[in-house]
Amino acid sequence: MSSGNSSSYSLGIDVGTTSSRALLIDDSGHVRDSFSSPHEEMVMARPLWAEQDPDDWWSATQLAIQGLLRSSGVSARSIVGVGLTGQMHGLVLLDRDDKVIRPALIWCDQRSQRQVDFIIGKLGAEAILNATANPMLTGWTLPKLLWVRDHEPEQFSRIRKILLPKDYIRFKLTGDFATDVSDASGTGMFDVVHRRWSDAVVSGLDLDASILPVAVESSAVTGKVTSKAAELTGLAEGTPVVGGAGDQAASAIGNGIVMPGTMSCTLGTSGVVFAYLDKPAYDPQGRVHTFCHALPNAWHVMGVTQGAGLSLQWFRNRFAPEAQYDDLTAEAASSPAGSHGLFWLPYLMGERTPHLDALARACWIGLTAKHSRADLTRSVLEGVTYSLNDGLQIIRALGADPAVIRLSGGGARSAFWHQLFADIFNVYVAVLETQEGSAYGAALLALGGIGQYRSVRELVTAAIQEVSGRQPEPASAAAYARRYDIYRSLYPALQPAFRAIGEADA
Ligand code: XUL
Repeated sequence: MSSGNSSSYSLGIDVGTTSSRALLIDDSGHVRDSFSSPHEEMVMARPLWAEQDPDDWWSATQLAIQGLLRSSGVSARSIVGVGLTGQMHGLVLLDRDDKVIRPALIWCDQRSQRQVDFIIGKLGAEAILNATANPMLTGWTLPKLLWVRDHEPEQFSRIRKILLPKDYIRFKLTGDFATDVSDASGTGMFDVVHRRWSDAVVSGLDLDASILPVAVESSAVTGKVTSKAAELTGLAEGTPVVGGAGDQAASAIGNGIVMPGTMSCTLGTSGVVFAYLDKPAYDPQGRVHTFCHALPNAWHVMGVTQGAGLSLQWFRNRFAPEAQYDDLTAEAASSPAGSHGLFWLPYLMGERTPHLDALARACWIGLTAKHSRADLTRSVLEGVTYSLNDGLQIIRALGADPAVIRLSGGGARSAFWHQLFADIFNVYVAVLETQEGSAYGAALLALGGIGQYRSVRELVTAAIQEVSGRQPEPASAAAYARRYDIYRSLYPALQPAFRAIGEADA
């Protein structure tokens, strides 16, 4: 944290899955203070469904901003700009009175396979890839919207606007309906190459384009804090708010992933391996996503593990609610590499990279009566890391071969997990001085977007430092390479069973 006295600050707000976070940086891009406020747990009425209340995000955001202003002692008038980021792909529906119509279907909700099949049937898989740079997936916002059309026609008929999670917070702060190009990339209806809504998809499905927010570049100002929002949050009326970015692009900005050849791995509820691109590149099988980056004329490719931090959180909450995460990881370290032959497949919410399978289920394979809680925990950490390695392999095949991968997110706080990444990825991993991830990136996007400051790239290059790192340990790397091959054989063997379970449970 910076102890200096800056005269101006920028605020980043991250609307995550488990909490909303507000973070202040000074005008040289250093973190001054941050404050988080928790969300209600996501509601899972059925397996693979996931909903949250957008007004709960807004309440948490207000508390986070108020808490931050209090704890930092910074005057709201010295905040020159606000940047927003948050969980991507969620569907917030507003009626003509700007009221939320139903709870948001969030990023990990997997109920919309029929709608995906319908869209592919109507538009054609190749046309979708040409129009959006990605295949159609249950994770995206569009199939969720069509699910509402198919199952809740009355609610659907009341829609005036649809918004992504962070953009609902923007609407509450400024009254504007806007999003940014990186977050719009994950809707399934955005032309990622040309950085605008895809007419081919929107009119091809007879959707009313007026329900979409405007899409701007991440550092462009979309509006100003209203007097009502100022009263509710403590911010100053008139403070400019910039486009911001989806949590992954923002986190990449916060990790300094702003040049070709740079790559990061972020471990939040989901887990992401992320590489910068100076032009769009695709995996022909669509197993990694090609999205706009939060910098003009830049893109990125990322592999997403749906149940990354979620695997550990689920394990702890269900089986060791009294344990701290640090204690669990310390216990995991007492089990050997490979967890005595135990494998965790982290498909708690289906899977995106590499399987693109909403019906995939999580499981342990290889349990014996000898296995202890330490083995189970270690296998969870290993399984999540194998899954992220799947994404890394695909990105490497696209030509990216980084000498270093920068780590961030909750998992980046664990030295044990650092070494696991180094060993399983078989590459040097670096830890950054500031591990604030997306909220930090959003604050940098705001600072870079407000005229008198340096560009985002300059700020990032000056402010972000690698402070430590880990090399792979050759013996462990070899042990894991062998086990990774076994891990990779498990999903194809189980896939027919996952399908049968999904059908039986429908
Ligand atoms: C990215 C993704 C997640 C969510 C929640 O594609 O789905 O990162 O944004 O963090």
